[in-house]
This record gives sequence, structure tokens and C-alpha cells, in this order.
Amino acid sequence: MSTPTLDKHSSALDAAEVTDAHLITITLRIRRFNPEVAADAEWVDYQLAVDPKERVLDALHKVKWEIDGSLTFRRSCAHGICGSDAMRINGKNRLACKTLIKDINPDKPITVEAIKGLTVLKDLVVDMDPFFQAYRDVMPFLITKGNEPTRERLQSAEDRERFDDTTKCILCAACTSSCPVFWNDGQYFGPAAIVNAHRFIFDSRDEAGEQRLEILNDKDGVWRCRTTFNCTDACPRGIEVTKAIQEVKRALITRRF
Ligand code: SF4
Ligand code: FES
Repeated sequence: MSTPTLDKHSSALDAAEVTDAHLITITLRIRRFNPEVAADAEWVDYQLAVDPKERVLDALHKVKWEIDGSLTFRRSCAHGICGSDAMRINGKNRLACKTLIKDINPDKPITVEAIKGLTVLKDLVVDMDPFFQAYRDVMPFLITKGNEPTRERLQSAEDRERFDDTTKCILCAACTSSCPVFWNDGQYFGPAAIVNAHRFIFDSRDEAGEQRLEILNDKDGVWRCRTTFNCTDACPRGIEVTKAIQEVKRALITRRF
């Protein structure tokens, strides 16, 4: 009895053809900026073959690794956790690692640019310092008085639920950089800082809620919010950002939290 033999070479080719059959050609239109080369940013088109089930981050990697190594962008985890690759994709703030090419009309050029309202340093990289300064200003850590407890601080499930939504923030800045108030005046604390203040103001174990409320009672604080909901639409974690801001406003009026 003869044993069927596999032609390794042709099966490898077949596999490549099957894989290639999934590929489509897209145009990635990236807003490039290098202050060492030119004073103004410009749109540059890159054509590449991708699987539509790949993510915009994969396409950016292809451009960087195979076409132009000077392309600059931030990314780390590639799984929607670190918050470092927020960018404007087809005019909307999204995480490149969570955006599938098939979901953003690959028949037309896909535009990719830096998030708005923060100074662009190079290509898709912005200066995040003002964003993190606002975050630090609201004291995003548990503050308590008195002696250290000898056992863990207890909290009921209901009390934990009170701020569950705002614990999900990954500090990607998609919300803050989608806010028209922040675009016009970068002094505004911005949605992300308020979300992170909310996370502690409504934590029953924390004892600095009043202090945080006073910080946000500032002219650049919560009252600047115009309830446009851009922040809620932009949040890749599905946090109800506008609702959190409204709750902080209400706590300021009622002093109940
Ligand atoms: S609230 Fe959402 S959009 Fe804003 S920084 Fe946090 S995760 Fe990003
Ligand atoms: S690379 Fe970490 S969130 Fe996208």
C-alpha cells in the first residue's frame, strides 16, 4: 500500500494563497509632523495590504516596520489596557488597538491623526503633561485620617458599586481630547480628571471628598462642562463620563456624596 506524500513546497504556497485571499488594499492617510523637518503637519498616504480583521494598530505597525520607520506613535499593551494609543481615526477618538479595519469603511482612505487639544510633539505623539497634571491635581489616591487600621477597610457591595464605573478608566485621554471646552482652553481640568476625582469622592472609605470637590469648584473645574457628551461617546471603556461629571456637580451643590 502506498502512503500519500505531501508536497511541502506546494502546500506552503497553497497556504499563502489562502491567507492572501483575505487581504485587501487600504489607504492609510496619516497626519505626519516632524518639527525638525517642517513647521507644518501634512497628510501622507500609505497603501498596504491588510486583513480586514486586523486592527488599525497592526496597519500602523506595517507602515512603521515595512514602509517608513520614522512614523512615530505610542502603544504598549495592544489590548486596550494601557491607554497609550488613543488617536483620531476617521475623525473620531479611538484606541488603535481596539479598532478593526473592517469596522471603519476600508473602501475609503482611513485618516489617522493625533488627538486634539494637546501639543503634537511628533506624528501621533502628543504632550500628555497637562493631561496628567490635571489628573494629579485631583489627588487620585485614597486619603484617610487617624491611625492606620490593623485590618482591611471594609466596604459594602452597595458602596463599592457607587463608583464602579469610574474605576475602569485607563487614562487614555480620549474623553478629554474630544471635549470642545478643552480644545478652546486647555486650563479646564477635563473629563478624565473629573472621572478620577469621582472614583474617590464617592468611595465610602475616602475622607478627602470635600477637598476634591473644592478643587473642582474652581473656574477651570466641573462648571466648565457643557454636557456635549463627546466624552461619553469617545470613552473606549464605556464609562458614562458625562454622568460622572453630573454627579460631581450635584455633590457640589448638595454636599452629599
Ligand atoms: S474616562 Fe474613558 S476616555 Fe477618559 S481617560 Fe478614562 S478610559 Fe479614557
Ligand atoms: S496599546 Fe494599550 S490600550 Fe492600545
